[in-house]
Amino acid sequence: MLNETVACLLNEQINKEFYSAYLYLDFSNYFAAKGLNGFANWYKIQAQEERDHAMLFYQYLHNNGAKVTLDAIAKPDGGEPDSDMAVLKAGLDHELYVTGLINGIYAAAYENKDFRTMQFLDWFVKEQGEEEANATDLIAKMELFGSDPKGLYMLNSELAARAYSAPSLVL
Ligand code: FEO
Repeated sequence: MLNETVACLLNEQINKEFYSAYLYLDFSNYFAAKGLNGFANWYKIQAQEERDHAMLFYQYLHNNGAKVTLDAIAKPDGGEPDSDMAVLKAGLDHELYVTGLINGIYAAAYENKDFRTMQFLDWFVKEQGEEEANATDLIAKMELFGSDPKGLYMLNSELAARAYSAPSLVL
C-alpha cells in the first residue's frame, strides 16, 4: 500500500501533467495561428509527452492498488503573449515549476521510506533535467536567430522535424 500523502501527491500530478499538455497545446495553437508550423509542431509533440507523463502516474497508482480520482483540468493560463519569446520563456518557467512538484513528491516518498516510488520518480527527475535543457536551448536559439527572418525560417524548419517518440519508461 502506498502512503496516503504520497498517493495523494501522485494523484494530483496526473492533473498537473494533463494541464501541462493543455498548456503546450495552447502554445502550439498560438504558433499555428502565426504560421510558424515548426514551433507549433514542437509544442504539439511536447503536449503528447505530457499526456504520456500523466498516464505514467495514472498507471503507477493502478499498479500499486491506489485509488485514482480525476479532477477538472484548468484553462491554460498562457493568456495573450506579447511575443514569441514570451511563450518560450513561459515554457521554461512551467518546467521549473513541474521540477519543483516532482521534487516535492520525491521528498514525501523519501520521508515515508517509499523506495518503490522513489525509483519510479527517478525517471521523472532525469526527464525534468532534459525538459529544462530543451526549453533553455530553444530560448538561446531564439535569442540568436529569431530576430533575423532567415534565421527564424531555419529555426522553424528545425523544429518542424521534431518527431514523437514514446517514453522510455514502461509500466
Ligand atoms: Fe511532464 Fe514537462 O514535465
